[in-house]
Amino acid sequence: MCNVHGNIWEERGPDYRFLRTLEPEPGCFSEEERLRAINGPLIDWYREHARDLPWRKDRDAYHVWISEIMLQQTRVEAVKPYYLRFMEAFPNAEALAGAEDEVLLKMWEGLGYYSRARNLKKAAIRIRDEYGGELPASREELLTLPGIGSYTAGAVASIAFGIPAPAVDGNVLRVLSRFLGSRLDVSLSGTKKRFEKLLSETMDREEPGLYNQGLFEVGALVCVPNGAPRCGICPLAWLCRAKREGLWEELPVKASKKPRRVQEKTIFVLTSGTQVAIRKRPDKGLLASLYEFPGAEGCLSLENDWEKAADAAGVAREDIVSVEPLGEAKHIFSHVEWHMTGYHIRLKGKIPERFVAADIRELETRYPIPSAFEAYRKAFSER
Ligand code: ADE
Ligand code: SF4
Repeated sequence: MCNVHGNIWEERGPDYRFLRTLEPEPGCFSEEERLRAINGPLIDWYREHARDLPWRKDRDAYHVWISEIMLQQTRVEAVKPYYLRFMEAFPNAEALAGAEDEVLLKMWEGLGYYSRARNLKKAAIRIRDEYGGELPASREELLTLPGIGSYTAGAVASIAFGIPAPAVDGNVLRVLSRFLGSRLDVSLSGTKKRFEKLLSETMDREEPGLYNQGLFEVGALVCVPNGAPRCGICPLAWLCRAKREGLWEELPVKASKKPRRVQEKTIFVLTSGTQVAIRKRPDKGLLASLYEFPGAEGCLSLENDWEKAADAAGVAREDIVSVEPLGEAKHIFSHVEWHMTGYHIRLKGKIPERFVAADIRELETRYPIPSAFEAYRKAFSER
């Protein structure tokens, strides 16, 4: 029977573990009751186990915002150096609002999803012009800023301003699905909305920032996405449905995505002396406005056919000095995969006018070139 001592949910501190036998049968407690019960244990655990990360030195809203945007789709370890460099270059919203696009995109190079960087600047301009340079302390107002959705607004509102707003990302969806034993499909927006509603009703009111970060931390360190969750050290284990029923392998439920489209491409690294040909991509679509090496569709075999190489790269046959293969490379975007093969084509005379003739070093220092081309940029700059 579901006979619970009224005050038991107020327990705090390491002793909460004795409560693990509290739910006599699965289903005795509602989802809300179980969620409320973990507030204290989760926050206590977070205080003890929080990783020391550069954006956790203070609760400055600008720091929280930039780190949360960088952390979407990118691993914590990869974000650290980007975050530190970014803060040196753009220490506050006003500095970011005045950033030159190409400098900003260069700084973002390698993080991917460049629209995130463009939105950061747009939002910074509004923060400078409409909010006197400080992010607004309201979830609703944060939501009106470009690039800030429900997750980021919740993270900034809770961590920087202590507002009890949920921050549900993929990691939190996984932890909650397992904790609640929920079979709702986490790839549906309705599932996220339902979890957001549950959390806004139940999450800790005193320390919402620590609560949300506690969930991130459990998702990163304990209830991990690949391989077995570490239920033995989990602060949620005593009320966790997946643990109790051995369900972790089945949860979260995620509809299988359609397979990515594969595009074959041939990439040309056209050089003349220390100059290399690059071009700016169109200002709409994948990798908009970034620079790239010229390329052609399909996987062409060119090393023994300079005629074909000249045609494909759009240069004159008699200008070619050598054609050397640079090997194959693959790059995976969210909806497409590029399967590339590359050639280094040395030219005599000038780089043709329709390209940007960049100095080799400028590939590192000046032009934002997406990491999709990293294999060819590297192969080439090591020569
Ligand atoms: N993942 C998402 N937000 C995070 C944060 N603030 N710290 C660490 N990992 C995170
Ligand atoms: Fe995940 Fe295990 Fe913790 Fe449940 S007890 S939330 S399955 S790590």
